[in-house]
Amino acid sequence: MPSKTETPSSPTGASGSAASGAQSALVELVGAKKDYPLGRTVVSALRGVDLVVRRGEFVALAGPSGSGKTTLLNLVGCVDVATAGTVRVDGHDTGRLSEKALTQLRLEALGFIFQSFNLIAVLDVFQNIEFPLLLQGKLGKGERAERVRSIVEKVGLTQQMKQRPAELSGGQRQRVAIARALVTRPRLVLADEPTANLDSETGERIIDLMRELNHTEGTTFLFSTHDPKIMTHADRVVHIADGRVLDAAAGHA
Ligand SMILES: Nc1ncnc2c1ncn2[C@@H]1O[C@H](COP(=O)(O)OP(=O)(O)OP(=O)(O)O)[C@@H](O)[C@H]1O
Ligand SMILES: [Mg+2]
Repeated sequence: MPSKTETPSSPTGASGSAASGAQSALVELVGAKKDYPLGRTVVSALRGVDLVVRRGEFVALAGPSGSGKTTLLNLVGCVDVATAGTVRVDGHDTGRLSEKALTQLRLEALGFIFQSFNLIAVLDVFQNIEFPLLLQGKLGKGERAERVRSIVEKVGLTQQMKQRPAELSGGQRQRVAIARALVTRPRLVLADEPTANLDSETGERIIDLMRELNHTEGTTFLFSTHDPKIMTHADRVVHIADGRVLDAAAGHA
């Protein structure tokens, strides 16, 4: 068979895989639902969400407490699985991936800044940030140190490099979590209220840093926030209420 043109869309390709259709969708949710069993009842945290985030976008997710922001980010971040519907990330239908493949996708393509940081208490700032690079096992010691130092400088924690999480302020911990998510230079960064614990000046600096990476590296960002000032930095604001996305088509800031 000579010259086959309809190459099956490569699930791994970061560049130029999607030629048509949902053009370069990095994240695609179709009818995504998430139910949590709670005693004898069920909480419907997401009630059928359709959402596309294209490569290179900088998207804010806004909605009241309990509306489903963390749940949505957890589904996209492969931390949790949908009860129904499809969640596609970087070309992969996450519902069809094995636990091992999900771990690989998380490690290679995603950076996650959790609402509760999830730092490792016994490791210092440098070691916490180096951790995902160790898991990836791709860089040597010198290259890792170089990479960590450069991101530590960007988030303004050079003085705190040897301190452990318990010896940091809330805002400093937040910046460690951000640096750890960015150090692997992921294609997609998911951030759950990345500025919630910061004073407004530090918050602005963090958003500027995210925006800079978005511009220079083409990193795609999906982040939740309550802060209208932070939303103004986004390309697009997706509003969510009671487990549903509102005005998906017209969701501009
Ligand atoms: N593990 C769980 N078990 C049961 N219910 C849950 C669980 N996690 C979340 N929920 C419920 O799902 C709904 C959505 O929660 P979620 O954490 O996604 O909201 P959120 O928009 O992130 O809120 P916040 O702004 O307060 O962080 C809420 O009603 C919450 O109580
Ligand atoms: Mg939340």
